[in-house]
Amino acid sequence: MTDVILVEQVERVVKITLNRPDALNALNLEVMEAVASALEQYDRDPNVGCFVITGSEKAFAAGADIKEMQDKTATDMLNADWFAGWDRLSRIRTPILAAVNGYALGGGCELAMMCDVIYAGDRAKFGQPEIKLGVIPGMGGSQRLTKAVGKYKAMDMILTGRMMDATEAERCNLAARVFDAASLVDEVMNIAKEIAGFGKLSVMAGKEAVNRALEGGLTEGVLFERRSFHGLFSSHDQKEGMSAFSEKRDAKFKGE
Ligand code: HXC
Repeated sequence: MTDVILVEQVERVVKITLNRPDALNALNLEVMEAVASALEQYDRDPNVGCFVITGSEKAFAAGADIKEMQDKTATDMLNADWFAGWDRLSRIRTPILAAVNGYALGGGCELAMMCDVIYAGDRAKFGQPEIKLGVIPGMGGSQRLTKAVGKYKAMDMILTGRMMDATEAERCNLAARVFDAASLVDEVMNIAKEIAGFGKLSVMAGKEAVNRALEGGLTEGVLFERRSFHGLFSSHDQKEGMSAFSEKRDAKFKGE
């Protein structure tokens, strides 16, 4: 049997490629387990500073696996707490970049939104078409899409099930940047290498602080950021980063 994901480490970056080409990378439970386990395995590795999740040029992922779900009852779904395994991604502290080519629909769009940054290929298509299947998003899409693009665009996407292209995704802050489809993965790997080259403590602190902005109030978030910033002054990498600036040389970060 072929592996449902491919995992490759390049320098300090781990790239996870969804690999169910016959099903346009539909996300079944096996993929969920494989992605979450791979991320957890490398998260605490000091030699890994960034993840990239990608699919194929045709599809990042065309959704949760409809065929796996279609005959389930509500009791089955509740008992299995279907999709709860995806929550494991929110506990990963190393940044995760999504490189989205082709379709990112339903659970595919939701997986991209569980990542910390979305980079899109110029032919990417994002959508939450669950309404056409008689359901609604089930992997956090109604919440994360609304926080990303605002109420009215999220309503438009979720209630009509239409797709948006990469230009629109960038315009409404779903995609951070758009690249040519053919060079997308290389471009994102280079960004990931750049992030992985910084001190891991400050990278993790930056990710945590931005995520706080989505979870709580402004006063609490600003205080959280400030205390985190203060704490970094006990690290080697802060001394090294600031000394390197003063001495006009490149910093050598150690992740401590
Ligand atoms: C299972 C899928 C799939 C999916 C595609 N396939 N999407 N299988 N789950 N989400 C399979 C097709 O059945 C087909 O298998 C093969 O992949 C190729 O797909 P085609 O439809 O032939 O390709 P194409 O004509 O190019 O159309 C591409 C597409 C279409 C527009 C992306 O596949 C599509 O609409 N897919 C479903 C998108 C969707 O509704 N996603 C949301 C899922 S629900 P065979 O065996 O026929 O070759 C979800 C949220 C769940 O994600 C939360 C609620 C509980």
